[in-house]
Amino acid sequence: MSKLPSMKTVSDRGVTGPATDSSELNDQLVHALEGAGRITSPEIAAAFRATPRHLFVPDVELREAYRDDYQPTERDGDGRLLSSVSAPWLVAQMLEYLRPQPGNSVLEIGSGGYNAVLLHQLVGDAGAVTSIDIDPVVTERARRCLRAAGLEAAVRLLTGDGAQGVPDAAPYDRIEVTVQAAAIEQTWLDQLAPGGVLVVPLRVRGLGRLVALTRDGEGHYSGGGWLPCGFVPMRGEAASSTQMHALIPGARVRVDGTQPLDTEALTKALDTTGSPRWSGVEVGASEGTRPVIDLWFATVLDTYGTLLTDPKESALQALPGGTPLTWNTDSTAAAYVTMRPVEGQSGRYEYGVIVHGEDEDLAEALVEHLREWGRDHRGGPGPVLHVYDSGTDPATMAPGRALERPGAPMVLTWPKD
Ligand SMILES: C[S@@+](CC[C@H](N)C(=O)[O-])C[C@H]1O[C@@H](n2cnc3c(N)ncnc32)[C@H](O)[C@@H]1O
Repeated sequence: MSKLPSMKTVSDRGVTGPATDSSELNDQLVHALEGAGRITSPEIAAAFRATPRHLFVPDVELREAYRDDYQPTERDGDGRLLSSVSAPWLVAQMLEYLRPQPGNSVLEIGSGGYNAVLLHQLVGDAGAVTSIDIDPVVTERARRCLRAAGLEAAVRLLTGDGAQGVPDAAPYDRIEVTVQAAAIEQTWLDQLAPGGVLVVPLRVRGLGRLVALTRDGEGHYSGGGWLPCGFVPMRGEAASSTQMHALIPGARVRVDGTQPLDTEALTKALDTTGSPRWSGVEVGASEGTRPVIDLWFATVLDTYGTLLTDPKESALQALPGGTPLTWNTDSTAAAYVTMRPVEGQSGRYEYGVIVHGEDEDLAEALVEHLREWGRDHRGGPGPVLHVYDSGTDPATMAPGRALERPGAPMVLTWPKD
């Protein structure tokens, strides 16, 4: 096991009440994160223990600062979240994906102060942490918190569009994007050192997933991870292209990129009575197959969206949290994934599809995709994301689903082993 870097406990000036309160609360938080498997490495546990979170959310009550939840710090005029100090479980999970090493140079995109200090604890004085946020209100706030913690010099804090990275301190051994990205920016790849790791909450065909990519070859980066996660969307020149379309009452579809979609025709199709087809693929409720199934369909379907319904308003049997939806080229037929309980077996469910409109091929294809997943990929390692430098010849890329977006080309593959 690698030696723990020597960590300095940050001073907790500004705490009301006995200083031990915050360290006890922090300790309880770290225990809970370890218990939940969010923290597995001793280095990351030690960095959390050495960093008093309340100094980075000074406007909330002490206990609240150590609750395992995000803390909103800025909203727009319509109440939409623009910035937050991320939830400890997600901060921990991202650091586990990133694994910064002592001496590393790290770039954080999206600032708050807290995560930057954790990064500083992990890379030590021999390393360097640069953090950039598009919003001067955020960087000013982070600067005040760092100052209060006596750590202003530990992090280089900049205001600007993180889509450009920070070229003057490149290359970075680690780049951590802490805002939802619609694409992998070529600038991030250009600024990543050979063997370096990029962690990013990415929108993959509309699904929010955390991925870790390693620069593992000339112009090639690959990885996975796939933890479902929500983040505030990126602002600036690389803002998200995800769109939400209202369909029949209580039903909406979230789609990404350019796809042939006629929402009027799709609404008409969903207004007809749906008919079920069952796949014979049975799963246990605790198997956690839902996020994997969503990614599988995002890979294999040409037209793909996430159907979101409000069960109080809609009779569609969509799965809670959103379900894969596909449609034919003129949007006159649609099919979505559903589940039904397996009779006599508590906690077991069978995957199936509900088809609206006349298109037998669409229905059959969806059921066949479920069976293929059950046969070849269930319980497997999950998909691999391949990213290539812009301008790479598509003929040299891995065979799989090319993800259409403006940044670096991406291909999603599903290895069988
Ligand atoms: C979830 S917060 C970051 C949390 C922070 N890393 C922490 O320590 O908890 C996401 C931040 O990304 C910022 N952001 C949005 N678009 C950006 C962009 N294009 N470049 C840099 N920052 C951006 C937002 O202003 C927001 O402050």
